[in-house]
Amino acid sequence: MKRQLLTLFFLTILSTAFAQKQNAIKPGEVWPDNNGDHIQAHGGGIVKIGKVYYWYGEERRPGLDTGYRYVSCYSSNDLMNWKFRGYAIKLKRPDSILTNNWVLERPKVYYNNATKKYVMYMHIDGGIKGISKSKWAYDYARVGVAISDKATGPFKYLKAFRPLDKESRDIGQFIDDDGTAYLIFECRPTDGFYIAKLSADYLTVDKEVSFIHAPLEGGAIVHYKGLYYVVGSALSGWSPNPNKVATSASIYGPWSSFENIAPPETKTYSSQSTMFIKVAGSKDTTVIFMGDRWKPSQLSDSRYIWIPVQIGDGKLWLPEPKAWTIDVKTGKWNYVNDKPEGK
Ligand code: GAL
Repeated sequence: MKRQLLTLFFLTILSTAFAQKQNAIKPGEVWPDNNGDHIQAHGGGIVKIGKVYYWYGEERRPGLDTGYRYVSCYSSNDLMNWKFRGYAIKLKRPDSILTNNWVLERPKVYYNNATKKYVMYMHIDGGIKGISKSKWAYDYARVGVAISDKATGPFKYLKAFRPLDKESRDIGQFIDDDGTAYLIFECRPTDGFYIAKLSADYLTVDKEVSFIHAPLEGGAIVHYKGLYYVVGSALSGWSPNPNKVATSASIYGPWSSFENIAPPETKTYSSQSTMFIKVAGSKDTTVIFMGDRWKPSQLSDSRYIWIPVQIGDGKLWLPEPKAWTIDVKTGKWNYVNDKPEGK
């Protein structure tokens, strides 16, 4: 009996150790981190420092102190196994004019090579005391900026502002192949979204690079074989919609008209654009669409829809999501259940 219990004990330990190793990206499923907890990096952003990918996003797990908003940080060498690195920022209401229903959404982190600082941008919003009519208003419409010496934080909150003096809601991050860093932000009053170049220290926005006159948010950009592809989602809140793509030979535009990126009836496979990751390996370059499948009734259980896209010659298309793996060294990916050719 004692021996049986001991065997059971070791088997349990072994199975939990193995269960934590992820060999695939499984769109729409629970994605366990190194502790076995579903990754909390919603509306996130990924930045690669050396060989390490850092994933930041909205931390929504139940039981947190409701007086704060949290951004979590995860690290990975292979994009499949993510280690929880703690809360990069734990932020108290940053402005006394905000009501208690304020939000921190879509955090993105840039590394500034010149200053050696990590700079976080985040969408700070919510109702304004004495002015907003609805409890859940998004009237503040600013970006928050925070800074850190380390990728994992703690980030120190610096300020909130309106980039280019515009109302700013959903934000996106784009770092071009030459290292130039841009902030994408949606602006309701001008009915479109801006691509703006960051200042040399990344602490503010320098100038408008493009204004895309289309009512889209969740803006994401990838630069692939001489073309810029910009993707956005319609303004339907947490509910998914058919996301769209436009292209341009220059980040300054002019941009083409928008086309669907997936069969429209699937509503982007029930997800919303957040970002692209470009994995340029020794053999191939894979572009990954990062989308969020929001679950507003329990945001912590929102899922991630990561899909390797079909891209080239001005077309960007999301194949049906299926489990897949990637080798970040070669840049090659394949579906998990595909049989080798000829078998
Ligand atoms: C979405 C937006 C999310 C969040 C949500 C709230 O449109 O992309 O980041 O703001 O609305 O309803």
